[in-house]
Amino acid sequence: MPKTKRPESLMIQAVKNNDLKKVTALLKHTTSVNDTDRDGRTALWWAIHLKSGEISELLVANGGELERSWLQIETGQNTLAEVIKNRGVSDLNRCKLFILTGAGISAESGIPTFRSPNGLWNHPDSQRIATHSHFVKSRKSVINLHVKLKKLMKEKVPNQAHFALAALEQQWLGDLLVVTQNVDNLHFKAGSLKVPKLHGCLSEKRCEACGRVSQWTTEDLDSAPCSKCMRSTPHRPNTVLFGEESHQHEMALRAAAECELFIAIGTSGMVAPAFSLVGLANNAHKIEINTEETEVSGLFDEKIQGQAHIEVPKLMKLLGVRI
Ligand code: OAD
Repeated sequence: MPKTKRPESLMIQAVKNNDLKKVTALLKHTTSVNDTDRDGRTALWWAIHLKSGEISELLVANGGELERSWLQIETGQNTLAEVIKNRGVSDLNRCKLFILTGAGISAESGIPTFRSPNGLWNHPDSQRIATHSHFVKSRKSVINLHVKLKKLMKEKVPNQAHFALAALEQQWLGDLLVVTQNVDNLHFKAGSLKVPKLHGCLSEKRCEACGRVSQWTTEDLDSAPCSKCMRSTPHRPNTVLFGEESHQHEMALRAAAECELFIAIGTSGMVAPAFSLVGLANNAHKIEINTEETEVSGLFDEKIQGQAHIEVPKLMKLLGVRI
């Protein structure tokens, strides 16, 4: 097989510019199956389908597996709605989709966000207390803060945005990862089964000796021994305090880096790893749903300004999800 003479980026650029002449010229060098590129990576396969003189599809196979990547190639400055209008939705619902949710998705359910004017972190002490170093010094005050938040969130119910994402989980044909920074459990109450909780969950407690996570059903944290290790080491809330590492963040980083469509819903993007996720999604069309401009808005291709409970169901319908 001939060696690939040109880097992928030239081809992508040519496709983006709809430069048929250049694509055809590049194809002469790159069209063979099982090409090896200049860095020796195997099985890079380009196939361009030309319909009525236009570039209609770019297929890339890596490691032998065929992937459609027209989404990232064709959206450019376009909105997803425009692309779907031109292309239909049939291929799209097989793409790799990554969704990050934050406090804004639960605003309509009556849970204040963290950084809004009447937000949970607006109390001068809250941010200072919700830290690992404070937990080491004054365990009781951190637990009291959790008890307060737990009470606030207890009776809350999911809204249309959570339900739309639960429907998405049932119906999406491609790789999908929805991750949440929220500790309110509303994705699960809406029926989602596979939403990693980067910051843990207020309805769970964790044994500090063996790490076993169980439901936190009592009002305060009880001192009963752990049912797994039987030790009397106290339990703690299964949440992430400032200064502690997020849960399952490696999975989130990997999925964000690999996705083709990235959607951030109702997050200010100010807390790790959220702010780094969008920056990793280099190959994706990136959409932000938020009522306001955020500090990371500039990193998105498309901004949908509006409330999550209205905009998320609309976007899911656009993606072919039946709600
Ligand atoms: P923030 O309070 O920082 O941001 C909430 C975002 O939601 C803001 O950008 C709002 O503009 C937006 N918003 C508000 N209402 C909305 C609505 N109805 N529809 C859409 N967007 C809306 O909350 P997060 O970004 O989630 O961490 O905060 C991240 C983390 O910071 C939290 O998980 C928490 C906090 O410290 C821990 O507790 C470890």
